[in-house]
Amino acid sequence: MDLFEYQARDLFAKHGVPVLAGIVATTPQEAREAAEDMGSELFVVKAQVKTGGRGKAGGVKLARTAEEVEQAADEILGMDIKGHTVRRVMIAEGTDIAEEYYFSILLDRSERRYLAMCSVEGGVEIEQLAVERPDALARVPIDPDEGIDEAMARHIVDEAGFPEADADAVADVILKLWDVYVNEDATLVEVNPLVKTTDGTILALDGKVSLDDNAAFRHPHHAELEDRETENPLEAKAKEKGLNYVKLDGGQVGIIGNGAGLVMSTLDVVAYAGEQYGVGPANFLDIGGGASAEVMANGLDVILGDADVRSVFVNVFGGITACDEVAKGIVAALDILGDAATKPLVVRLDGNNVDEGRRILEEAAHPLVTIMETMDGAAAKAAEIAA
Ligand SMILES: Nc1ncnc2c1ncn2[C@@H]1O[C@H](COP(=O)(O)OP(=O)(O)O)[C@@H](O)[C@H]1O
Ligand SMILES: [Mg+2]
Repeated sequence: MDLFEYQARDLFAKHGVPVLAGIVATTPQEAREAAEDMGSELFVVKAQVKTGGRGKAGGVKLARTAEEVEQAADEILGMDIKGHTVRRVMIAEGTDIAEEYYFSILLDRSERRYLAMCSVEGGVEIEQLAVERPDALARVPIDPDEGIDEAMARHIVDEAGFPEADADAVADVILKLWDVYVNEDATLVEVNPLVKTTDGTILALDGKVSLDDNAAFRHPHHAELEDRETENPLEAKAKEKGLNYVKLDGGQVGIIGNGAGLVMSTLDVVAYAGEQYGVGPANFLDIGGGASAEVMANGLDVILGDADVRSVFVNVFGGITACDEVAKGIVAALDILGDAATKPLVVRLDGNNVDEGRRILEEAAHPLVTIMETMDGAAAKAAEIAA
């Protein structure tokens, strides 16, 4: 889960990372009140969207008075930044910046460790810096068993080339950011810019944090950080029912399968079969091992709620839950859904007790169901119907 800047700011504050005051507002009026409560000589009104480059897009504005804050909020709210509509702004205390730096820690999956990146040339597009002047960006591998201790923090600071006078203060902030990374189970903590103010203080002025969803059970409070408003409604519904569902853009064939590997392969065969008609898979949905009628009904319910879907391909390999159980599940699911089942289903069953499974489906003879023997055949049929 990616966090908004204001949420990252709160996590930073919780772990002692120096940040400036910040208050979230959803209307210009609220923004004005926030500024009045905060009482500062300088404010920065910042669009809260989960994408970078807000400054360049006009989503970060300076303001000197509460009136100016209100006006800036009015301009920024509703703005579209790289396809993200701005629904919230953060009113931040403004500061006089002397230097802008860059720091991040991320999960380096291919090397099976963490990677710290640091530069004395921050604020700019870091991807561009990494390509054009790779020497200006220090990359320091972090052993997951060792983490970042004081000596490692100093090493990072030295690699980045900070002047001696700032080294201790920056290393201290790096230690606290490591604290955020490891104790919140993050996969990314990025600060761009990390700044030195004109009075010499080191501050995290912008924060980007991604949390590891697999560790959510260890952090009950992370659930509050979820963004229900901009979440895809079908994905939200699926999550509520405990389904492993991802909506895919531009597809017309709904997909249900058991096991992530089988579902991935199903997406491939449907994409291939659909090429000639210009149709493709509309979603990923893995209903897992024990495909009960209830799970099947929940899965079908989510997929049929997708206006893009014109046909559904149910691809199940019977294992511990044998094909006859799955077939009964499909029949029962269609019963549960009743009139809500509106789109043709192409079913391919194979594996344990396949003959009995097919017999059950044939006997039920549901008008929406077509039984196919092979995965390729079923993909072709589902694509043809969708077309
Ligand atoms: N609180 C602040 N006080 C002063 N300047 C700020 C403040 N927050 C951001 N800025 C300036 O605006 C620039 C862009 O803001 P930032 O939060 O990094 O957004 P983005 O990375 O999305 O463009 C920063 O590099 C910094 O120069
Ligand atoms: Mg930034």
